[in-house]
Amino acid sequence: MTAYLITSVSVVGAAPTDLLIRDGVIAEVGPGLTAPDATVVDGTGLVALPGLVDLHTHLREPGREDAETVESGSRAAALGGYTAVCAMANTSPVADTAGVVEQVWRLGREAALVDVQPIGAVTVGLAGERLAELGAMADSAARVRIFSDDGHCVADPKLMRRALEYVKAFDGIIAQHAEEPRLTEGAQMHEGEVSTRLGLIGWPAVAEEAIIARDVLLAEHVGSRLHVCHVSTAGSVEVLRQAKARGVRVTAEVTPHHLLLTDERAETYDPVYKVNPPLRTAADIAALRAALADGVIDVIATDHAPHAVEDKECEWAYARPGMLGLETALSIALDVLGPEWDLIAERMSRTPARIAGLTGHGVDPAPGVPANLTLIDPAARRTIEPAELASRSRNTPYARMTLPGRIVATFLRGEPTVLDGKAVK
Ligand code: DOR
Repeated sequence: MTAYLITSVSVVGAAPTDLLIRDGVIAEVGPGLTAPDATVVDGTGLVALPGLVDLHTHLREPGREDAETVESGSRAAALGGYTAVCAMANTSPVADTAGVVEQVWRLGREAALVDVQPIGAVTVGLAGERLAELGAMADSAARVRIFSDDGHCVADPKLMRRALEYVKAFDGIIAQHAEEPRLTEGAQMHEGEVSTRLGLIGWPAVAEEAIIARDVLLAEHVGSRLHVCHVSTAGSVEVLRQAKARGVRVTAEVTPHHLLLTDERAETYDPVYKVNPPLRTAADIAALRAALADGVIDVIATDHAPHAVEDKECEWAYARPGMLGLETALSIALDVLGPEWDLIAERMSRTPARIAGLTGHGVDPAPGVPANLTLIDPAARRTIEPAELASRSRNTPYARMTLPGRIVATFLRGEPTVLDGKAVK
């Protein structure tokens, strides 16, 4: 294995130092290191963070390999500074059996660009009727700990209760897509002034808030772990704030797009802005940003949702919801939070790694620690060109926007997956 000497790099925003990577781990940290056999990476002006960890990625394999594969999504992740991603279960076939989660896990190992941790479905076929084989997925080679019907809400309260009870045996987590289905029938965008003006059916904030309120009570009753996917409203933040104050075992994520873009984007009728939950208002964004800073929201998760051209470049009503996220998340975080490196490391690496139980990830560079890290040039600015993304899909809402920050290198267990801003393989 090649050794790497990263010189004069700021580790999580601290004064510049050198990092020596050898045999997959951080061998030494300190100024003026020498290692004649090592490949030198000039870290001047760069910031090193523990490799980013995404709790919410759609890799589309098996089933929609035209939109993304485990390998293409893994490459996009590495280019975005990630060393681990949790792959959502809404594939085709659905990841509701040990066989499918093991397949995804193996494909991730073969691609070897990030660690791919499969998420298992809560219910068979995401149909919300019967529990999937949660125990078999937990016992499989993929060692599933997070279960989610993401894309669909586990709407039946009895089923949600049973799922929370079941995963308690192995300290698992139910990650809920909070959307009361009766309140969102036919919904196309956030319900508010803009939807009224455009004449599109609205997705009211209460459809999310009502499910979160119910689920924190269920999680409290059962004493189990709940994770709330893509929180998007100010009201949800208040429900979570109260639940956390009572000691409920709940964690929550927010996406980059819900931190930056408002429902006014729908005025373009460009389906690239169609997403579930929908883009909300400026007041919601302010509440989400405050919750991210004070810890009511634990994590930034991408909800990277690649879609084929025919599923996005069509009429708004027929377009699938979702947008790309892996290759732009760090830039959006930098734009929204500023160079708050410790907060960025906390929300995008340490906390998601801890929630998912991914040992060796989310640990700051220090002697003996697995060398899972990313190097960022905070001074660089780049203009997003969809055709240049590594994802197989092109549905980025940031096309032609100029964003701060660039990922220069990413290391997975001491091996570079990205160098000089380019994928190594
Ligand atoms: O916008 C979304 N797209 N939200 C989801 O919950 C699912 C995702 C997808 O799978 O495309």
